[in-house]
Amino acid sequence: MNAVTKIAGAALRHDSAVKHATGEARFIDDMAEPAGTLHAALVTSPVAHGQLRALDLAPARAMPGVVAVLGPTDIPGENDIAPIARNEVLFVETIIEHHGQALALVVARTRDEALRAAAAIKPDIEALPPILRIQDGRDWLVGPFTMKNGDADTALAAAPFTAQGEFEVGGQEHFYLEGQVALAIPGEGAEMLVHSSTQHPSEGQHIIARVLGVPYGAVQVQCRRMGGAFGGKESNASWVAAAAALAARHTNRPVKLRLPRKADMAATGKRHPFLYRWRAGFDAAGRITALVADMTADGGHSVDMSGGVVMRALTHAINAYSVADLRVTCGAIKTNHVSNTAFRGFGGPQGAMLMDDVLAHVARATGHDIEAVRARNFAGGPNPSHTPYGQALEGDLIRRVHAEAMADSSWDRRRAEIAAFNATHPTLRRGLGCFVSAFGISFGIPHLNQAGALVHVYTDGSVRLAHGGTEMGQGLFIKVAQVVAEVFSVPIETVGLAATHTAEVPNTSPTAASTGSDLNGWAAFNAADAIRTRMASVAAKHFGCAEDAVRFEDGQVLGATDNQRLTFGELAKKCWLARVSLSATGYYATPDLEWDMQAVRGKPFFYFSYGAAVSEVVIDTLTGEHRVLSAHLVQDCGKSLNPAIDRGQIEGAFIQGMGWLTSEELWWDPAGRLRTVGPSTYKIPGSRDVPPVFQARILEAGPARANTIFRSKAVGEPPLLLAGAVWNALKDAAGVAHLDAPVSPERLLRAGQRP
Ligand code: MTE
Ligand code: HPA
Ligand code: MOS
Repeated sequence: MNAVTKIAGAALRHDSAVKHATGEARFIDDMAEPAGTLHAALVTSPVAHGQLRALDLAPARAMPGVVAVLGPTDIPGENDIAPIARNEVLFVETIIEHHGQALALVVARTRDEALRAAAAIKPDIEALPPILRIQDGRDWLVGPFTMKNGDADTALAAAPFTAQGEFEVGGQEHFYLEGQVALAIPGEGAEMLVHSSTQHPSEGQHIIARVLGVPYGAVQVQCRRMGGAFGGKESNASWVAAAAALAARHTNRPVKLRLPRKADMAATGKRHPFLYRWRAGFDAAGRITALVADMTADGGHSVDMSGGVVMRALTHAINAYSVADLRVTCGAIKTNHVSNTAFRGFGGPQGAMLMDDVLAHVARATGHDIEAVRARNFAGGPNPSHTPYGQALEGDLIRRVHAEAMADSSWDRRRAEIAAFNATHPTLRRGLGCFVSAFGISFGIPHLNQAGALVHVYTDGSVRLAHGGTEMGQGLFIKVAQVVAEVFSVPIETVGLAATHTAEVPNTSPTAASTGSDLNGWAAFNAADAIRTRMASVAAKHFGCAEDAVRFEDGQVLGATDNQRLTFGELAKKCWLARVSLSATGYYATPDLEWDMQAVRGKPFFYFSYGAAVSEVVIDTLTGEHRVLSAHLVQDCGKSLNPAIDRGQIEGAFIQGMGWLTSEELWWDPAGRLRTVGPSTYKIPGSRDVPPVFQARILEAGPARANTIFRSKAVGEPPLLLAGAVWNALKDAAGVAHLDAPVSPERLLRAGQRP
């Protein structure tokens, strides 16, 4: 293929980049409201745990502008919004399980009136003591599951040296710029159309239907784009949409529900905090031979997707390393926090921190440089290449990304310069850290690894592309459009992008697990390829040449000889006249996955995305503050579908991960009320936190050995793990092996004062 038609792999800008900048991109709250639209507001719990004795809705009903006030008895279907299990109410009936939990919904003429009326409701609650710490948890929500290999106890007893550790890592608020929002428009009879800012339109459809007590087919969900999601709109968007739909059903008017930031932060789940306890055996060279570890996730009050998060934490606990004899457990414990949920990495980042904690202790105990210890323990090479659950890692790629990050950052030179700096500076200390990750790509639940697409070619040659994936800023729409443009060899501008809609592509998986472009890319390829094959056959007849002589190039369709040529549009018109369909669905299911969840064994992932990072920090030993001075990242994207988009993902994920591990601290008061409910108290990274030296590089000629779409690899979540380099650099600067995250100034000060 010639240069112009290499659309797959081109660094095209995000289809909405300009629209995002000018404000032309329409989010749900920007849509023109249909005549008669009402606005809803949640009534939420002021306590973390308690018995709801009475809920008098009358004070809200008497407030100006109020049209309806709805509680659990107003639900025509089920009062259940759980994505997997059936155990989560939309509105509390008896026991309040967390601060900010929804009790009722007020519907009014304006949003302000709805919010004011919601505040007028004073629930009668008998407070119960809340469980707020993992350490105080009593009931497992899921698991614990055990991942085993060899005989960990015997190996630990036989090891020349042992070490142990206990550390914790906090949760994280998604802080999407566009909060949770849905606009429900009632149709005829039971019909309901809901514009929902959601990663999972099909689940929205199901939960709306469950709450309304109607068949799935009566409900349609649409989403053109989200203003960020990061996992926070995988399950939480569904209940927001269901609440809006419930109000629309009752009033028979369009209803919009947009959560204010405070309510959004209190009422929707976050990343799971983790507590780790481990014992490791190792030899004098720092090779880890045995590991026994327990990881406990704070699941919050209900299951949500904690099962999947726990599984991903387990399957990432040994990360890019190899330990012959091990036993690692992971479960999610019940607390009186909001139910924790998907967040970029989905437990993978939490799991992968275990080995880096172990490595830091082993390096300290043996006196070896941590990077030497790291390299000694990589999977592959002289070590076994299989993960504890039995899937092979690519040791060559692990070593390659590590070596390239070390080289990019001039590791050895920086080490020497940092030593010189630290020797002379009285209060500031610099530190250097590295992190390597192997992130498994596929949903942990095998049946979710499927996707559909619907492609139309119109008779002028313009194209319409719909698929089941959702756009949250990650660039999925442009990537999938590139796949279709490549198949037809037409300019990218001729591929029109349809909003994600349950009526166009049904029964979809969430856009999650970084699989969006893998799954929808193949589905769209299959749809476009089916049309292309039909078009080639019409062209062959027209030219009088063999079908396999027909080529699609640069918006043209060529036959066997030079004068046999039509534009793509001319051929489309000929197909129509010949009564050949120009529309097709495409479907894809990831092959070769097998997973035994109970045994924690099998091949859960189609492949791994590898990455490495080196970061340098400086800390102030008087205040505990720090700055990240540099970051050099190398991320394997296979043959990138779009290097511009992928680089943006690498940069964004790293900075988001850095926020998680450093400045983003969720704080609950002793009564269990989340008090960090806005940007003034919850600090996400700003532009000035981006390291002044910041190089995010795609691994060159990264070989995709699995049959992925155009040999690309997923990139959405994996680079978030690379922020572990900042955590490690902070440990190095503070001269400690143990450092809980997020590394607040208080924690850094205390860490430095440990013996
Ligand atoms: N990038 C942006 N800009 N906004 C987002 O909300 N979500 C992340 C990642 N990148 C997100 C993002 C998460 S959690 C996932 S799983 C992937 O995008 C999902 O999209 P993909 O599968 O198309 O990569
Ligand atoms: N990632 C994100 N969402 C999911 C997953 C996963 O691995 N499994 C089920 N939902
Ligand atoms: Mo991403 S946490 O899988 O939505």
